[in-house]
Amino acid sequence: MKLPARVKMVEVGPRDGLQNESDIVPAAAKIDLIDRLSGTGLSVIEAGAFVSPKWVPQMADSGEVLAGIARETGVRYPVLVPNMKGYEAARAAGARDIAVFGAASETFTQRNINCSIAESLARFAPVAEAAARDGVAMRGYVSCVLGCPYEGGIEPRASARVAARLFEMGCGEISLGDTIGTGTPAKAQTMIQAVAAEVPIERLAVHFHDTYGQALANILACLELGVSIVDSSVAGLGGCPYAKGASGNAASEDVLYMLDGLGIETGVDLDKLTAAGRMICATLGRAPASNVARVMAAKDAPTCRARSGN
Ligand code: HMG
Ligand code: MG
Repeated sequence: MKLPARVKMVEVGPRDGLQNESDIVPAAAKIDLIDRLSGTGLSVIEAGAFVSPKWVPQMADSGEVLAGIARETGVRYPVLVPNMKGYEAARAAGARDIAVFGAASETFTQRNINCSIAESLARFAPVAEAAARDGVAMRGYVSCVLGCPYEGGIEPRASARVAARLFEMGCGEISLGDTIGTGTPAKAQTMIQAVAAEVPIERLAVHFHDTYGQALANILACLELGVSIVDSSVAGLGGCPYAKGASGNAASEDVLYMLDGLGIETGVDLDKLTAAGRMICATLGRAPASNVARVMAAKDAPTCRARSGN
């Protein structure tokens, strides 16, 4: 099995993880999470989204969050922008990295950003021009690459088409999202092969949600093909407000444990990452959806000695 020597982990918890929370998470808690994540060795932490607050209220404070974080040297803090209005707001808040987000499915695009795929690409074009002019790094997402909550199966060539357009537009990295987590390893590989025919594989990131427990297997299958950028969410937080039933991303702690075990370098510290996940889960009032975090919590818990009655 040939695997990359190094993987870049892209932490999407503060955005993808928290966007779906029904109760508003205070900006201070988001800032604290991002600052803790900055101290783990992660080099990319998605910090928010400049989208309509009517569509995604949880991200309405992204400007406050960007203003409040302690930016670490060597760490990038991208934010999602769907159009020029979002781009201008993100820049005014000090964003130096952005991500535009499209999808391989027409219906999902309509439900998520209220336009067709062609219209979405037309909206991204001026964003790409402005980003190139301003020296802002731009990532492109393609959602629903392995299935759509409205249309079902998605042809690999549909994902490849959108990825190719985003790459031509100037996205330095294309993240391929299994938004509803229905993918399995062989399907993931077929999709990657189709996209890699259009976009160099070193520019591809994988973004798996773990709805059916397939995320780690899918990631490994993509690493085998040469993918070396992996999105994940601390404590397995998240979902997508426009993809009913979708669960969180692959938990960063579980991804890191697997990469460590494979001898793949990431530069990320598992103890610090797990501690960051525990903190945000304490704020949210629930346990981390990460197997590694659960095991570590059990090890740390005080041992209860049963008293023998004999
Ligand atoms: P729209 O209603 O079609 O926009 O929404 P519009 O241009 O017609 O404007 C309507 C109103 O929205 C106006 O305000 C605009 O100013 C305002 P009003 O005059 O009514 O007061 N508006 C904005 N406000 C703030 N920021 C903006 C912005 N743009 C317009 N950027 C729009 C279109 C794209 C804005 C909307 O559909 C939207 O915000 N959608 C966000 C969807 C979203 O964030 N989804 C989650 C992220 S994607 C995801 O999670 C998948 C991913 O993780 C990968 C994967 O898992 O597959 C990335
Ligand atoms: Mg996602």
